[in-house]
Amino acid sequence: MPKRPLHATPASHVEASSQPARTGAPLPDEVTPLLGNRTPRQFMRRYWQKKPLLIRQAIPELAAPLTRDELFELADLDNVESRLITHFRNTWNLEHGPFAPDELPSIKKREWTLLVQGVNLHDERAHALINRFRFIPDARLDDLMISYATDGGGVGPHFDSYDVFLLQVKGKRRWRFGAQRDLSLKPGLPLKVLQNFEPEEDCVLEPGDMLYLPPHIAHDGIAEGECMTCSIGFRAPSAHELTAQFLYHLAEQAGDAPNARGNARYRDPEQPPVDRPAALPALLLERVGAILASIDWNEKDIAKFLGSYLSEPKSNVVFDPPERALNQQKFVERVKKTGLTLDRKTILLYDAKSYFVNGEAEKLSASAKKWLPEFADTRRLEAKRFLTLTADSAMTSLLHEWYRAGWIQTDPSA
Ligand code: SIN
Ligand code: CO
Repeated sequence: MPKRPLHATPASHVEASSQPARTGAPLPDEVTPLLGNRTPRQFMRRYWQKKPLLIRQAIPELAAPLTRDELFELADLDNVESRLITHFRNTWNLEHGPFAPDELPSIKKREWTLLVQGVNLHDERAHALINRFRFIPDARLDDLMISYATDGGGVGPHFDSYDVFLLQVKGKRRWRFGAQRDLSLKPGLPLKVLQNFEPEEDCVLEPGDMLYLPPHIAHDGIAEGECMTCSIGFRAPSAHELTAQFLYHLAEQAGDAPNARGNARYRDPEQPPVDRPAALPALLLERVGAILASIDWNEKDIAKFLGSYLSEPKSNVVFDPPERALNQQKFVERVKKTGLTLDRKTILLYDAKSYFVNGEAEKLSASAKKWLPEFADTRRLEAKRFLTLTADSAMTSLLHEWYRAGWIQTDPSA
């Protein structure tokens, strides 16, 4: 379903650590059923961004992370993005949520689909599922979407602009797919449906089976009976998006700096009077040309932009700060017993010089280097490990701030 915004890989000049981090994902050279008894390295080399891969029993004995009713409950929330796609009487229709349970069609009615985006942000089981894919950089991760469909339901033949793992979690879905050149769309529809769909492959996925599709592969998944599919999506930004966002970032940075060049205003004390007032003055063109020509940037600006942009939570994400926050001392006492977990909604990235948390860029100090990259990779700081670091008051006060913002949790199941 073509909806996710696109973006890119981060600045990745990160020092290699001696110990691989425990991330929930297979290690680069570990053979795993998740990838059809291949290693992540083999998968990335042969398939990632290159060609589709069908994996039978990628996760054997997999149970759906959410029940149908739990998914419907999520679709009823204001800060959860959901869509309802129906294909009744051969007509495509799209509605955006939230949906109260009685606003959804009856589960006895054929050919409708409910898509719920960002389930990993709200549910620990979905979050654990997405963690299995952390052999791919976090900066590429978009979210885990769950689709529920009644018999015959689907979103029509289409293509997406991102990489996706389509994991069947309940019931059966028939997937047809292929790399076709003609990606023209049917005009006048509320969703993107291919005009001429010519699939090369045809398969039925059962719970635990998974299909990887790189961007722009035409595909169509039709439910055979009631079914649920998880789609773990990875964003790939267009050059247009990156350019627009980078220039916006540069302009903001320049505007933020007091007395900076970016704050200079256009001036025209030499402007002569005109008798053709609608004509663009040559002086304007020349002066603005000079302002634009003075824009410059270096690798640091690019890294800062990428880290901030890619760690920015989506606009509908709301953090839940603790209702009665502990003071710093009590917080430290608690964490000595419980350890810390990054909140599911927190995005924490780093490079050799900086870290980026929920859209904010900060310098990675020598003391933060000792714990922050490890915390970002594993998303967990064990109580024992925390205990060894508590003498670092900069760390404890920073973590206390994050705790009060709801960015980290002392209770891992929160
Ligand atoms: C997709 O094709 O991108 C997913 C649609 C679905 O799960 O129904
Ligand atoms: Co799709």
